[in-house]
Amino acid sequence: MQLNLKGKKILIAGIHGSGKTILAKDISKGFKTAVYTPYPEEWKHEPVLLFEFTDFVNDFPLICRKIKQLALEKKITLFIVDDADILFKTHFDVKQSVREMVISHRHWNNLSLAFVTRRIQDIPAKIYGVCEFKALYTIDSPQAIDLLNKMHEELGDKVKAIPYESYNFYLKKIGEEPRLMKVELPEKT
Ligand SMILES: Nc1ncnc2c1ncn2[C@@H]1O[C@H](COP(=O)(O)OP(=O)(O)OP(=O)(O)O)[C@@H](O)[C@H]1O
Ligand SMILES: [Mg+2]
Repeated sequence: MQLNLKGKKILIAGIHGSGKTILAKDISKGFKTAVYTPYPEEWKHEPVLLFEFTDFVNDFPLICRKIKQLALEKKITLFIVDDADILFKTHFDVKQSVREMVISHRHWNNLSLAFVTRRIQDIPAKIYGVCEFKALYTIDSPQAIDLLNKMHEELGDKVKAIPYESYNFYLKKIGEEPRLMKVELPEKT
């Protein structure tokens, strides 16, 4: 997938099993990528820097500081938080560190950010609102549909109508109409 994500933020949202992690992995190929995820085994075969943790939520501020340092040293160019909703449901400090990152990442050698979530309605508006790209897989919660309808004309209804297991998603770029897209996986032999 050729997206010009340099120095930009992308939100990847959709219900369980809709294809979010596959898209994040596809995007990661064009970058020196670091990943923070509660399910590191899903990423262990990818050529990415994977962070270990003892407490996923409480370790996040420390991870953010490491990300800044690694980006300034040009060791990473993309930071992906897979299953980011886990962070936002629980802890105030976590939000602060994310906020600083969201404000400053461009000054960290144009670091790109990707937040992956099942529940767009749990992500603070200050964060999803400033994501220049939103990749929207199918959703079913009325709050999420409502939120997307308010974001762009009928976007929530369009996203809801994506058939599960089609692995299609709408890419909504700020200022542009949503485009229906799909990651093409190589055939298994
Ligand atoms: N573009 C695609 N083409 C074909 N199959 C796909 C595609 N995207 C995802 N899949 C299939 O769907 C499965 C689930 O995808 P993925 O792990 O990316 O979902 P997810 O949205 O991250 O789910 P979760 O919310 O549980 O983390 C994959 O293991 C793969 O088999
Ligand atoms: Mg996933």
